[in-house]
Amino acid sequence: MPKIIVPNSQSVQDACAVLQEGGLVAFPTETVYGLGADATNAKAVTKIYDAKGRPSFNPLISHYYSAEQAFTDVVANEDAKILAHHFWPGPLTMILPKSKHGRIADLTTAGLDSAAIRVPSHHVARDLLKGLDFPLAAPSANKSGEISPTSPAHVNESLGEAVPLILASGTCDIGLESTVVDLLGDVPVIVRPGAITAEDMQHVLGKAVGIDYGIKSKSDKPRSPGQTLRHYAPHIPIRLRAVDVAPNEALLSFGSVKFMGVKGGGAAKDLPDHQHMNLSEAGDLHEAAANLFKMMRALDRSEFKAIAVMDIPKTGLGLAINERLERACG
Ligand code: TXA
Ligand code: MG
Repeated sequence: MPKIIVPNSQSVQDACAVLQEGGLVAFPTETVYGLGADATNAKAVTKIYDAKGRPSFNPLISHYYSAEQAFTDVVANEDAKILAHHFWPGPLTMILPKSKHGRIADLTTAGLDSAAIRVPSHHVARDLLKGLDFPLAAPSANKSGEISPTSPAHVNESLGEAVPLILASGTCDIGLESTVVDLLGDVPVIVRPGAITAEDMQHVLGKAVGIDYGIKSKSDKPRSPGQTLRHYAPHIPIRLRAVDVAPNEALLSFGSVKFMGVKGGGAAKDLPDHQHMNLSEAGDLHEAAANLFKMMRALDRSEFKAIAVMDIPKTGLGLAINERLERACG
């Protein structure tokens, strides 16, 4: 079987067979590519941690075909049901208590009493999940600490031989990982921002939704183990809120660069393509989110001293984009 394959009914069936035997398959979701294994099989899940070089205290998200299936492995409260109704299938992950007779392996949840669950909307992910009678544990399909992959080529570059099979379906629509919401307490709390915003959830829940990205709060214990780790890191430094660019820096711009200068003389708009990429000339946050990881990768070249990033508004999806950039700064 070739390694990077186009999904069709036969190849999806082959991928299901690999997963049923406890193997790994990388697959597209609407957010980023995931590296999947049987979430109920600890031996299979070990392969994910090995392939990614991921610390085993960082739990994985279990992916399901339907909310009904997901809610057999966790205890869903009223908020979870409402959110599932409005946002699943889609880019929302919920943290809920594991149910007593749930099937998710302890290794998948890194020994926690809670589990992260999600029903993705990408048609290939859905075809795959439909053919399985277990959920798929799937982190982003990259080495731990690297930028999440939004194309099959990224997966191959990052994981190489460690991933035997990649279902390839072009670039991901959203380009940022799912929103993660902690539903363990009375107040839902977003622990990782994404395409579904606090406002979106407040609107359907009719109550306040908290935010705790764990970046500034030096509080005792992070809500989500992933918050303590350096994430989405390119190899060269990132300089945020840049209003100009040095001749030896790469530029990641947003909106118009008409008035941006190069230190020492020159205009940013005249920089060569390999040194300057625009997340969205029109200033569209959705376009910017979809381009973010791809452009960070492309500009991450040792010939540059740093990547200068222009200011991006902290509204809507801009919150998630800023959170990823701040984490990239370490
Ligand atoms: O969009 C996505 O969510 C992608 C696609 C493949 O679905 N997956 C993804 O997985 O981003 P990963 O493993 O890279 O990120 C999962 C995050 C981690 O930060 C982890 O710490 C957190 O979710 N998490 C998982 N289970 C948790 C739990 N029980 N309590 C708190 N945080 C949890
Ligand atoms: Mg990840």
